[in-house]
Amino acid sequence: MAEWWRNAVIYQIYPASFQDSNNDGVGDIPGIISRLEYLKKLGVDIIWLSPVYKSPQVDNGYDISDYRDINPTFGTMADFDALLEKAHALGLKIMMDLVVNHTSDQHAWFKASASGKDNPYRDYYIWRDGTQEQPPNNWGSFFMGPGWQYDSSTEQCYLHLFAKEQPDLNWENPAVRADVYDMMNWWLDKGVDGFRMDVINYISKPDGLPDAVRSPDASYANPEPLVANGPKIHSWLQEMNHEVLRNRRVVTVGETPGVTTEEAERYASLKGNELSMVFQFEHMALDTSPNPVLGRWAERKASLRDLRANLSKWQTALHGKAWNSLYWNNHDQPRVVSRFGDDSSETTRVLSAKMLATLLHMQQGTPFIYEGEEIGMTNANFTQLSDYVDIDSLNAYQEIVVEQKLLDDATMLRCLAKHSRDNARTPMQWSDAVNAGFSENKTWEKVNPNYRDINVENALNDPNSIFYHYQKLIHLRHTLPVITDGMYQLVEGNEADDEIYAFTRKNADTTLFVLLNYTNDTHTRDYAIPAGAKRIISNYADDEGQTLRPYEAKVYQF
Ligand code: NOJ
Repeated sequence: MAEWWRNAVIYQIYPASFQDSNNDGVGDIPGIISRLEYLKKLGVDIIWLSPVYKSPQVDNGYDISDYRDINPTFGTMADFDALLEKAHALGLKIMMDLVVNHTSDQHAWFKASASGKDNPYRDYYIWRDGTQEQPPNNWGSFFMGPGWQYDSSTEQCYLHLFAKEQPDLNWENPAVRADVYDMMNWWLDKGVDGFRMDVINYISKPDGLPDAVRSPDASYANPEPLVANGPKIHSWLQEMNHEVLRNRRVVTVGETPGVTTEEAERYASLKGNELSMVFQFEHMALDTSPNPVLGRWAERKASLRDLRANLSKWQTALHGKAWNSLYWNNHDQPRVVSRFGDDSSETTRVLSAKMLATLLHMQQGTPFIYEGEEIGMTNANFTQLSDYVDIDSLNAYQEIVVEQKLLDDATMLRCLAKHSRDNARTPMQWSDAVNAGFSENKTWEKVNPNYRDINVENALNDPNSIFYHYQKLIHLRHTLPVITDGMYQLVEGNEADDEIYAFTRKNADTTLFVLLNYTNDTHTRDYAIPAGAKRIISNYADDEGQTLRPYEAKVYQF
């Protein structure tokens, strides 16, 4: 089925960190407008805008207090309308972030809900009898601590899977669903082109809200196995599709932690009765700690075997049935070049960033590029706790180091440096001007000091930059149908290779042969490269055939 977005590439903007136009230290919508030409040059098709709605910013906009207004730090609705108009004029689409598992506790619905047990909005949220000491069940919050907050005025607790300022909406209530659909239709009528749906597979909680399995040394249980892909999720998404999405030319991506390939086949089926695609998280969990309490606060690197096995599973399982999303980065993940690549020297940074880009962009699905990924921005390199601003990083430190004493300060700082969400949120590095050309004022999150070398201006001036490699990958996707529709197959014998990743993409008339060296050493393999095969992209100028130099990536077409 030829959906318009099937060969598109999506670029994610985290508004607070993209471009500040009024020098208050926070990025804004006019700033984004001023950079649209840059995105056009890169060649992307769709912009996913992380939340710009009115919000107290407890979780950087993922706590929305008014779904139909813009946060003043980002601008006005008139600014948003101008963004939409200018983006469309350039042929760029805009995808909004839809955060409807929860609202802010400052949303009018929640204020009404908390005002009394008889208020008509009481049932918009999930209230149960309990106290702070004896909450309704043992669920923890994903940001540490309990998943329930006691409200002394009405003597009940409300559920919050994230911060206590992010109460979960009660999707069982048909009025909640109707209000959400109404709001979505309002944005689509305005002209936006789709939605990225925040933790959308958490909206259906299991009947009776039973306790979850708690690991012995954890204070609270991880609710994810119970709340992910809950009992009514598919019927509600089909209802949403019916009420909002069908008959519109929109693209949707569901953020679905804990999703399996079987579930994804339903969410993102080619039949299209739920979503266009979903974000799976398995490849983001390959470098986590074996200790469930520590989770992602670990220091190891994912092996090529694990990574390839996982990506291959998704490529194969969804082919012909459902649609994959492809990503390395977003505002919640560390920078790919520091995580799966090698930022230890300028040479390895550039080579490995291009290798990883080639790996991802040659797979089947819709690639997402997170701001700064296209110039190889690295992790933040913060060394002290006071540099961190993310609620998740700070809560994790408090819980793991101060309260539970599971890690010492130095170890936790190293884990934060590897996995904190702050790594993704340092301001976009535009040039070597003050604050990387992002803002003239003190920035809300520190600028990475490597901006003097790693910045857009340098990238645009260097024909061999990571930027132009991404530009070429995007162009290839737009011009070679096999990248969109071709079947993925691992080269025989590659499954157990610890250094080289080799796969093919094949449709009726074209084959692509993708060879990637995941290491900083040279390796030779005897894979047959057919005579006459044309090398269409690489991160090295010349070709040594079966010998792959450090982080070499190349694609042949025949
Ligand atoms: C997932 C978002 O990507 C993340 O940034 C946010 O904190 C949580 N959902 C809660 O909305």
